Amino acid sequence: MDIDELLEELNTAYAEEWIAYYYYKWAASVVSGLSWPNVADELKRIADEEEEHAQELAERIIELGGEPERDFEDLVKIAKCRKIVFPKDYGDLKGFLKAVIEQGERCAIDGYMGIIKKLSPCYEKDLRTFHLIEHILSEEIQHEEAFENLL
Ligand SMILES: [Fe+2]
Ligand SMILES: [Fe+2]
Repeated sequence: MDIDELLEELNTAYAEEWIAYYYYKWAASVVSGLSWPNVADELKRIADEEEEHAQELAERIIELGGEPERDFEDLVKIAKCRKIVFPKDYGDLKGFLKAVIEQGERCAIDGYMGIIKKLSPCYEKDLRTFHLIEHILSEEIQHEEAFENLL
């Protein structure tokens, strides 16, 4: 993968982390008024980890000579996981959890798997990016499990 393609992939991931952060915090707000404090707490905790991922990706993008996407409208355009659609009914706990699992975590896992596959053939050329993506991917898998455990 050449550097421009890598920067594009990292920026897509960066955008997706902010989008996940936004939707998880939104969902935490609307469910926290209901009797699901554990779900709201989990959504907040995981949203904060997504924000950390965005920061880690931004640092690496800058180290590689790129720039993290600066325009919020473009952020949504460059993301592949760009939306999480929650149930209209706030009482639909399963629907909320399924939305974050399928449209949030699984989409993120697919994206990071794709980057890992592209980096793998010559991972030793950029070990730091490889390890960062591996680290984020393992946290996304933990997120998926954490939400599944609440189902
Ligand atoms: Fe993430
Ligand atoms: Fe995640």
